[in-house]
Amino acid sequence: MTPMVLEAINRQIAAEFAASFSYLAMAAWCEHHNFMGAGSWLRLQSAEEHGHAMKLFNFVLARNHHARLSAIEEPTGDFASIVAVFERALAQEQEVSRQIDALYELAFQEKVFAAMAALQWFITEQVEEEKSIREIVAKFQMVGGDPSSLLDLDRELGARQPEPAPAEA
Ligand SMILES: [Fe+2]
Ligand SMILES: [Fe+2]
Repeated sequence: MTPMVLEAINRQIAAEFAASFSYLAMAAWCEHHNFMGAGSWLRLQSAEEHGHAMKLFNFVLARNHHARLSAIEEPTGDFASIVAVFERALAQEQEVSRQIDALYELAFQEKVFAAMAALQWFITEQVEEEKSIREIVAKFQMVGGDPSSLLDLDRELGARQPEPAPAEA
């Protein structure tokens, strides 16, 4: 591991914890506005992001380096509507995809092959996450303000089950 790659992975650990925190703030908004299904979906997403942070944390330690934890900014917790929550989630995932790509590029340039292997899992994961959230945004945009469709969609989101813990990096 080179110092630059280590520094970048440590920054990504903070970014994943920040994503976890942000999803939890979104869950709070949803549940406060009685979208309990969306709240449940976002709580699970928050837990997944925590898992992503821990995957990188474990990787750094497995490579015999110091995993540094930095401060997390207070996430946005105020939204204009339920669709705005998921639009924000999509923008957040697109930003994380850019971060992961940049991290992979750096690991490639620095020839840190173990980091490249670990980061491949994240590249695949980002494709899935962007896809699932893009679909949710599209559905909310489709139903607009129709109350019974919103209730159906909220119930559908509430059916999400926790994923088995990802394998260790
Ligand atoms: Fe993540
Ligand atoms: Fe994510």
